[in-house]
Amino acid sequence: MAEPRTATLTIGNMTYDLPIHAPTAGPDVIDISKLYATAGVFTHDPGFTSTSACESALTFIDGDKGELLHRGYPIDQLAKKSHYLEVCYLLLYGELPSAALLEDFEHRVTHHTMVHEQMHNFFRGFRRDAHPMATMVGVVGAMSAFYHDSTDINDPWQREVASIRLIAKLPTIAAMAYKYSIGQPFVYPRNDCDYATNFLRMCFAVPAEEYQPDPILSRAMDRIFTLHADHEQNASTSTVRLAGSSGANPFACIAAGIACLWGPAHGGANQACLEMLQEIGTVDRIPEYIARAKDKNDPFRLMGFGHRVYKNFDPRATVMKESADEVLDLMGIHNNPVLQVAKELERQALNDPYFADKKLFPNVDFYSGIILEAMGFPTSMFTPIFAVSRTVGWIAQWKEMIADPTGKIGRPRQLYTGPTQRDYVDIENR
Ligand code: SDX
Repeated sequence: MAEPRTATLTIGNMTYDLPIHAPTAGPDVIDISKLYATAGVFTHDPGFTSTSACESALTFIDGDKGELLHRGYPIDQLAKKSHYLEVCYLLLYGELPSAALLEDFEHRVTHHTMVHEQMHNFFRGFRRDAHPMATMVGVVGAMSAFYHDSTDINDPWQREVASIRLIAKLPTIAAMAYKYSIGQPFVYPRNDCDYATNFLRMCFAVPAEEYQPDPILSRAMDRIFTLHADHEQNASTSTVRLAGSSGANPFACIAAGIACLWGPAHGGANQACLEMLQEIGTVDRIPEYIARAKDKNDPFRLMGFGHRVYKNFDPRATVMKESADEVLDLMGIHNNPVLQVAKELERQALNDPYFADKKLFPNVDFYSGIILEAMGFPTSMFTPIFAVSRTVGWIAQWKEMIADPTGKIGRPRQLYTGPTQRDYVDIENR
C-alpha cells in the first residue's frame, strides 16, 4: 500500500501536513478541509481558479489538450456517434445503455414531455416581450408546485422521477416561452418524434399547416444539445450544487442554475456573441473591435472567445463549426454576412499575438449562435436552448451530490476587510 502523500504548509514556526488526493485524471488535489480547524487560517480563491469544490465522476476537461470526456467518452465521438438522450443516459447512470435500456429510457422521457395544463397560465402572467430566460426561471421554479410528489430529495425514486420530468419538460417549457413571446399558440409535444425534432416542432410548427423539420436540422439541434450537456463545475452547475446542498428541491435548484446561466460571461455568451457579430456588421470593421477587446481601458470583450478552463481550442467549438457549415449549406445561406464576419474574426483573432498569448480561442458559444440563427431562432432563445441541454448535466451533478453520504451544506468563508467592531452613535451625536 503506497504511503499517503501529503503537502507541507509552514506558517511561522508551525508546519501542517495536508493530505494529497490523486484523481483518475487531472491535477492532484490538496485537501484543506481541516486547515481552519488545525491552523486557524482560511485559503483565499475568489474565482475558484485553483479550487476543487467536490469529487465527481461525470465529466473531465483537460484545458491544455482541449479534451472533454463524459464518463470517459470523448465529446467528438459522442457528438458524431451518439445522440442527446443516449448521452443523458450515460451522464445519469455511468455507462452506455444497451438497446433495450436506451429504448426504455427514451420511452420514459418521451412520456413526460407534456406539462400540467394549468402551467399554461403562468406564461400569461408575463409580458409578451419578457426575455424567455425570465419566463423559464419562473416556470421551472414553479414546477415544484405542480410536481410535489417528486420533491423529497431523500427518496431515490422521487429523485429519479424529478430527473426524468426535468429532462423531458424543459424543451416544452422553452418552446412555450418562445411561442408566447411571438404570440403564437403553444404546440404540444408528440410521442412519435425524437427529442430534437419534438423541440423544433414545438418552436416552429403552427396549427395552420403541417411541419416536419429537415433531418439535417434535427441532427444539428441534437448535436447542439449533446455538446452543451455537461461541463464539470462551471458557474451554473456550481450554483445548482450549492442550492442543492441546502436540501432545496430539484426544481428550485435547476431554476437557480438557469438564472446563473443567463449571464453573458456564461451561457448568455451565445446571444451576446451573435449580437456582437451583428454589431460589427462587416469584415472591414473587425480591426476596430479587436482593438477594443485588447484595450485595457475598454470593458469590451470578444463574446464567444476565451474560457476559464480551455487554454487551447474548445473541442465543442470544433464540432459545432462542422455543424454550422452543414446547416448553412442546407439553408443556402453560406454567404451569411454574420458567418462571414465570424469566420474572418476568428481568423484575425487567432493570428493576433494578444489572443494567442492569452490562449483566447473560440469557445462553444462562438458557433452555436450562428447555427441557431440560421435555424430561425431569435437571439433571445439561444440561452434557453443552452439551458434545455444543460439540464441533464445539472441534474446528474445534483444527483451525484445528494447521493454523497459525506455531503454537507456549502458555506464558504471570506477575507473580511470591513470595519472592526465599533459602538453605535446616536443620530444627535453624528
Ligand atoms: C461558457 O466554465 C464553463 O465551463 C463555461 C461553459 C460551460 O459549458 O458551462 O464552457 C460555457 O460560459 C463559455 C464561455 C462563454 N463566455 C464568453 O464567451 C464571454 C467572453 N469570455 C470572457 O468573458 C472570458 O474569457 C471568460 C469569462 C469566459 C473566462 O474568463 P477568465 O478565465 O476569468 O479569464 P480572465 O477574465 O481572467 O481573462 C484573462 C485575460 C484578461 O486579460 P488580463 O487581465 O490578463 O490582461 O484574458 C482577457 C482578460 O481581459 N480576456 C479577454 C477575453 N476573455 C479574457 N479579452 C478579450 N476578449 C475576451 N473574450
